[in-house]
Amino acid sequence: MPASDLTAKSLAASAGLPLDVDLIRDQLAAKRLGTQFRYFVAIDSTNSYARRLAEQGAAEGEVVIAESQTQGRGRLGRHWVSPPNVNLYFSIILRPKLPPAEAPQITLMAAVALAETLEWFLPVPPVIKWPNDILVDGKKLAGILTEMSCDAEGVDYVILGIGVNLNYPLDLMPDEIRQRATSVFALSKKKISREAFLRRLIQDLDRCYGEIQGTGFAAIASRWESYFGLRGQRVRIELLDQVVLGTAQGIDRDGALLLEDDQGNLQRVIAGDVTLLE
Ligand code: BTN
Repeated sequence: MPASDLTAKSLAASAGLPLDVDLIRDQLAAKRLGTQFRYFVAIDSTNSYARRLAEQGAAEGEVVIAESQTQGRGRLGRHWVSPPNVNLYFSIILRPKLPPAEAPQITLMAAVALAETLEWFLPVPPVIKWPNDILVDGKKLAGILTEMSCDAEGVDYVILGIGVNLNYPLDLMPDEIRQRATSVFALSKKKISREAFLRRLIQDLDRCYGEIQGTGFAAIASRWESYFGLRGQRVRIELLDQVVLGTAQGIDRDGALLLEDDQGNLQRVIAGDVTLLE
């Protein structure tokens, strides 16, 4: 039997029951998010589907969730491995009243909410790797993909997509990610109720989103800082057209990464791919 068939069989054996969306919805205490759930057994990408819904005028708070994705996407066009029934893959439609320049705050807000939820389920606190990764021991546990549509007037919608490796056994991860990924199960040695996790995460997102709508990112900046794993660390950042080396200093009030480069200049990085140097 080919190795890929074996992995598919083992994954099926280790996969839990399908998500019970009623269980999430019935006990959800959230003001804005989780107003409606659209559940799919398989989908191309929850972000793509949510985007289509938003284009058709869907309201803020709708959640698109799938057991598996055939074209799960990460930042920079990367593939997000999305096997069925073990993890969480979902996207929420947001219509924030923010100028487009402040929209990156949504990613930072989501990282805080995700880290706060994960702390309940993990033996060690997670770390935020700017801008959108959640790591433990340098290995990726969850990722955030925000996609925005805006015009000169403001933001029309933001699709907040989140993938969490929850009950995914390390030995069933494909080679392409096994060395650099982890899961809540691998860290806690416990199978987690996906419904309980997602309910808590939507509630934490709802609360953090409410906080930044009220007073901006400043409201949660100190919590973001407490999870920030790069301060004082040497990093390599791939920008669109160049690579910069330096020491990460923190973020500014708009959520840009502050980097002291090797020439001693303070640079403000809005978008880039960060690698931690040993
Ligand atoms: C990253 O780490 O680069 C972001 C990964 C985001 C993955 C999630 S899974 C649900 C949603 N749908 C997608 O296609 N991507 C996001």
